[in-house]
Amino acid sequence: MAIGSPNYKDAMMPTVKKFLESLAGIDLRGRAGLAFGSYGWGLEAIEDIHDILSSYGMEMVQDFGVKGKPEDEELVECRKAGSALARKIKE
Ligand SMILES: Cc1cc2nc3c(=O)[nH]c(=O)nc-3n(C[C@H](O)[C@H](O)[C@H](O)COP(=O)(O)O)c2cc1C
Repeated sequence: MAIGSPNYKDAMMPTVKKFLESLAGIDLRGRAGLAFGSYGWGLEAIEDIHDILSSYGMEMVQDFGVKGKPEDEELVECRKAGSALARKIKE
Protein backbone atom coordinates (compact mmCIF):
# COMPACT_ATOMS: atom_id res chain seq x y z
CA MET A 1 0.00 0.00 0.00
CA ALA A 2 1.35 3.42 -0.96
CA ILE A 3 -0.07 6.45 0.86
CA GLY A 4 0.96 10.00 0.06
CA SER A 5 0.21 13.61 0.81
CA PRO A 6 1.59 17.07 0.16
CA ASN A 7 3.01 18.76 3.27
CA TYR A 8 0.78 21.65 4.30
CA LYS A 9 1.39 23.50 7.59
CA ASP A 10 3.80 20.78 8.75
CA ALA A 11 1.15 18.09 8.30
CA MET A 12 -0.51 15.69 5.87
CA MET A 13 -3.88 16.56 4.36
CA PRO A 14 -6.75 15.96 6.83
CA THR A 15 -8.48 13.63 4.37
CA VAL A 16 -5.35 11.43 4.26
CA LYS A 17 -5.15 11.41 8.06
CA LYS A 18 -8.80 10.40 8.25
CA PHE A 19 -8.22 7.60 5.76
CA LEU A 20 -5.19 6.34 7.71
CA GLU A 21 -7.23 6.35 10.91
CA SER A 22 -9.95 4.34 9.15
CA LEU A 23 -7.39 1.58 8.55
CA ALA A 24 -6.84 1.04 12.27
CA GLY A 25 -9.24 -1.90 12.46
CA ILE A 26 -7.60 -3.80 9.60
CA ASP A 27 -4.80 -6.29 10.20
CA LEU A 28 -1.93 -4.85 8.14
CA ARG A 29 0.90 -6.57 10.01
CA GLY A 30 3.67 -7.70 7.66
CA ARG A 31 2.16 -5.96 4.64
CA ALA A 32 4.38 -3.77 2.46
CA GLY A 33 3.95 -0.02 2.79
CA LEU A 34 5.31 3.15 1.23
CA ALA A 35 4.93 6.74 2.43
CA PHE A 36 5.36 9.45 -0.18
CA GLY A 37 4.52 13.07 -0.83
CA SER A 38 5.48 16.50 -2.05
CA TYR A 39 6.84 19.26 0.15
CA GLY A 40 8.39 22.70 0.14
CA TRP A 41 10.91 22.56 2.97
CA GLY A 42 9.88 19.91 5.49
CA LEU A 43 9.07 16.21 5.55
CA GLU A 44 6.49 16.07 8.36
CA ALA A 45 3.61 14.70 6.23
CA ILE A 46 5.70 11.85 4.84
CA GLU A 47 7.21 11.07 8.24
CA ASP A 48 3.81 11.03 9.93
CA ILE A 49 2.34 8.73 7.26
CA HIS A 50 5.36 6.47 7.71
CA ASP A 51 4.90 6.39 11.48
CA ILE A 52 1.19 5.60 11.31
CA LEU A 53 1.63 2.77 8.79
CA SER A 54 4.56 1.44 10.84
CA SER A 55 2.38 1.51 13.95
CA TYR A 56 0.01 -0.85 12.13
CA GLY A 57 2.92 -3.28 11.72
CA MET A 58 3.49 -2.61 8.03
CA GLU A 59 6.94 -3.28 6.61
CA MET A 60 7.95 0.00 5.04
CA VAL A 61 10.10 0.47 1.96
CA GLN A 62 12.10 3.69 1.81
CA ASP A 63 9.99 6.87 1.97
CA PHE A 64 9.80 8.96 -1.17
CA GLY A 65 9.47 12.75 -1.30
CA VAL A 66 9.47 15.29 -4.10
CA LYS A 67 10.22 18.95 -3.54
CA GLY A 68 7.49 20.86 -5.37
CA LYS A 69 6.09 19.59 -8.65
CA PRO A 70 7.74 16.41 -9.96
CA GLU A 71 9.71 16.88 -13.18
CA ASP A 72 10.91 14.09 -15.50
CA GLU A 73 13.83 13.20 -13.23
CA GLU A 74 11.61 12.88 -10.16
CA LEU A 75 9.07 10.85 -12.13
CA VAL A 76 11.82 8.31 -12.83
CA GLU A 77 12.44 8.16 -9.07
CA CYS A 78 8.68 7.81 -8.44
CA ARG A 79 8.63 4.74 -10.67
CA LYS A 80 11.66 3.31 -8.86
CA ALA A 81 9.89 3.77 -5.52
CA GLY A 82 6.81 2.03 -6.95
CA SER A 83 8.99 -0.83 -8.21
CA ALA A 84 10.61 -1.19 -4.78
CA LEU A 85 7.15 -1.48 -3.25
CA ALA A 86 6.06 -4.04 -5.87
CA ARG A 87 9.18 -6.14 -5.18
CA LYS A 88 8.45 -6.06 -1.45
CA ILE A 89 4.83 -7.12 -2.05
CA LYS A 90 6.05 -10.09 -4.13
CA GLU A 91 8.56 -11.22 -1.47
C1 LIG B 1 -0.60 27.19 2.34
C2 LIG B 1 0.64 26.34 2.12
C3 LIG B 1 1.27 25.79 3.22
C4 LIG B 1 2.42 25.01 3.03
N1 LIG B 1 3.04 24.49 4.12
C5 LIG B 1 4.15 23.76 3.95
C6 LIG B 1 4.83 23.23 5.09
O1 LIG B 1 4.47 23.43 6.24
N2 LIG B 1 5.97 22.52 4.88
C7 LIG B 1 6.43 22.26 3.61
O2 LIG B 1 7.45 21.58 3.47
N3 LIG B 1 5.80 22.76 2.51
C8 LIG B 1 4.69 23.49 2.65
N4 LIG B 1 4.04 23.99 1.56
C9 LIG B 1 4.55 23.66 0.21
C10 LIG B 1 3.83 22.44 -0.38
O3 LIG B 1 4.05 21.26 0.39
C11 LIG B 1 4.34 22.18 -1.79
O4 LIG B 1 4.10 23.31 -2.58
C12 LIG B 1 3.74 20.94 -2.40
O5 LIG B 1 4.42 20.66 -3.60
C13 LIG B 1 2.24 21.17 -2.67
O6 LIG B 1 1.73 20.06 -3.36
P1 LIG B 1 0.37 20.18 -4.21
O7 LIG B 1 0.70 21.10 -5.34
O8 LIG B 1 0.10 18.77 -4.66
O9 LIG B 1 -0.68 20.74 -3.32
C14 LIG B 1 2.92 24.76 1.73
C15 LIG B 1 2.26 25.34 0.63
C16 LIG B 1 1.14 26.13 0.82
C17 LIG B 1 0.47 26.73 -0.39
